Amino acid sequence: MKAAVISMGSVSSQWIVDKLKAYFDVVDDFKIKDFEVQLTGKELSILYKGKEFGSYDCIYAKGSFRYSNVLRSITNASNKNVYMPIKEDAFGIGHNKILTYLALQQNKIPIPKTYIAASVSAAKKILKDIKYPVIMKLPSGTHGVGVMISDSYESASSMIDTLIALKQPFLIQEYIETGGSDVRAFVVGDKVIASMKRQAASGEKRSNIHAGGSAKPIELSEKTKAIAIKAAKVLGCDICGVDLLETPSGPKVLEVNLSPGLQGITKATEIDIPEKIAKFLYEKTKEMKSKKVSEEQESMMKELTEEEQELVTQIEYRGERILLPTVVSKISKFDENDDVVIKSSKGNITIKKY
Ligand SMILES: Nc1ncnc2c1ncn2[C@@H]1O[C@H](COP(=O)(O)OP(=O)(O)O)[C@@H](O)[C@H]1O
Ligand SMILES: [Mg+2]
Repeated sequence: MKAAVISMGSVSSQWIVDKLKAYFDVVDDFKIKDFEVQLTGKELSILYKGKEFGSYDCIYAKGSFRYSNVLRSITNASNKNVYMPIKEDAFGIGHNKILTYLALQQNKIPIPKTYIAASVSAAKKILKDIKYPVIMKLPSGTHGVGVMISDSYESASSMIDTLIALKQPFLIQEYIETGGSDVRAFVVGDKVIASMKRQAASGEKRSNIHAGGSAKPIELSEKTKAIAIKAAKVLGCDICGVDLLETPSGPKVLEVNLSPGLQGITKATEIDIPEKIAKFLYEKTKEMKSKKVSEEQESMMKELTEEEQELVTQIEYRGERILLPTVVSKISKFDENDDVVIKSSKGNITIKKY
């Protein structure tokens, strides 16, 4: 089987490529920036470095929000017989926090109370009524960049004016006090395979490792795990990092990361995550392939059994008795207990249900 990894070429992606080599016959490593998508109205073609992108049994496409349109196009173009851990729609939703919160809300997954304002005056009304500090977020930030915290109406209101002047969409969110910590649940399939608690650096509220946060392993409650797995399912991601805030009233999902870094969590948990991802990709691809073969066999059999069929073959004898091919038993649907009338003459046999 053939696998392709399409990524920004990070160390994490390289780890996965290396581990996949033990499972797949061919593993190709592609950089997203070298892709080109052509739409002609009749056809969608994907080019890599100017050449047609080949066919694979498994494509693991991932990358930051900057590439979500290209990632979407590549997954859209790949046929249904390719296993992809991140579904096409996930690239639109997962890379946009507003769409993510809407999808989570729709599926009754707990999230911090979030507000989307249609105008400056609507935003300011929200800011008048909300408790401080308050969080404001850009829909497509990562690594904590794009998350703003404000202690008062005055500062929040001035931030909103700036965001609107820059034509920058944003959301407003209640601040949840966790002492600057959050948890990352690493979901693979229907399991959380690793989890860590991240603590913001002193003087920071954002716990991202890129924002100076530190991490240690944590065993999550079954409830938190179940919420993380459900969030991943809702977005259509078989492999992702789900960020949650643990609150006295239960866990709340902050985001579903489609391209979670592996270095921080591997260091914190000492779990061989790339190996688990590679094995999972292999098993899912194998499962999809065998399902496809049995579906094909089934539809062939269905076709055969629906109407009268002629079979050109040689007669098989067991001693002096004629043995009919298995397909004949299947097509005729005779039951062992059926009474039949056998008519035979030289060069001709018919068997009919009595
Ligand atoms: N509503 C909130 N209440 C408290 N802390 C928050 C809230 N939203 C975000 N944070 C902090 O900011 C960090 C980054 O937020 P997140 O929504 O995950 O954006 P990013 O995509 O930049 O990681 C979180 O890991 C958490 O520490
Ligand atoms: Mg995050």
